[in-house]
Amino acid sequence: MARVLIVSYSRSGRTRRAAQLLARKLDADLDELTERANRRGARGYLSAGLAGVLGREAVLTGRRRDPSAYDLVVLATPVWSGSVSAPMRAYLRQYASLLPEVAFLVTCGGAGAEAAIGQLRALSNRDPEAQAVLTDASFNRGDLEDELLDLAGRIQSHLRVRTELPVTPSDAAPPPGM
Ligand SMILES: Cc1cc2nc3c(=O)[nH]c(=O)nc-3n(C[C@H](O)[C@H](O)[C@H](O)COP(=O)(O)O)c2cc1C
Repeated sequence: MARVLIVSYSRSGRTRRAAQLLARKLDADLDELTERANRRGARGYLSAGLAGVLGREAVLTGRRRDPSAYDLVVLATPVWSGSVSAPMRAYLRQYASLLPEVAFLVTCGGAGAEAAIGQLRALSNRDPEAQAVLTDASFNRGDLEDELLDLAGRIQSHLRVRTELPVTPSDAAPPPGM
């Protein structure tokens, strides 16, 4: 069975909740990013907003799973001032070269997701196999489960097609002596 890792960061719990639900649907491992900065309260909010505007990276703490041991990694981040969160930016600078195929899960108030997705593409150097944007409305209306089920379905069908693809002659090992 294909192995899926979800790498997520969450300041106030929404992305964490979505990542945990998605992990359950995909039977995936979770790697939640932690950082040295304290982003709680008004000061934390301001520092996060500034990090988004300036494109600053966080200093990550703790141990990370090896993303190259997986078939697909879901990158889950909130939008900060129209940007990816500072911890996700730091993660991608350090781990982009080890990433297999990717999918994106972006949470936001309602604006700025497109720019953040553009950054995820650029920083990971990958085009996503699937992506989803969850707005505050998705959380408030209770559409979360449905939207995550849809994302999980798209990821699963991609992984299924990928493992069912026939081996083409150019993929096959050359005969001995060649
Ligand atoms: C500093 C900061 C900046 C934000 N900037 C944006 C933004 O530009 N656009 C937007 O739609 N939401 C913005 N938000 C809202 C968050 O992206 C949204 O609430 C997200 O779901 C929070 O995820 P979390 O609970 O996992 O931290 C911002 C939140 C913070 C803390």
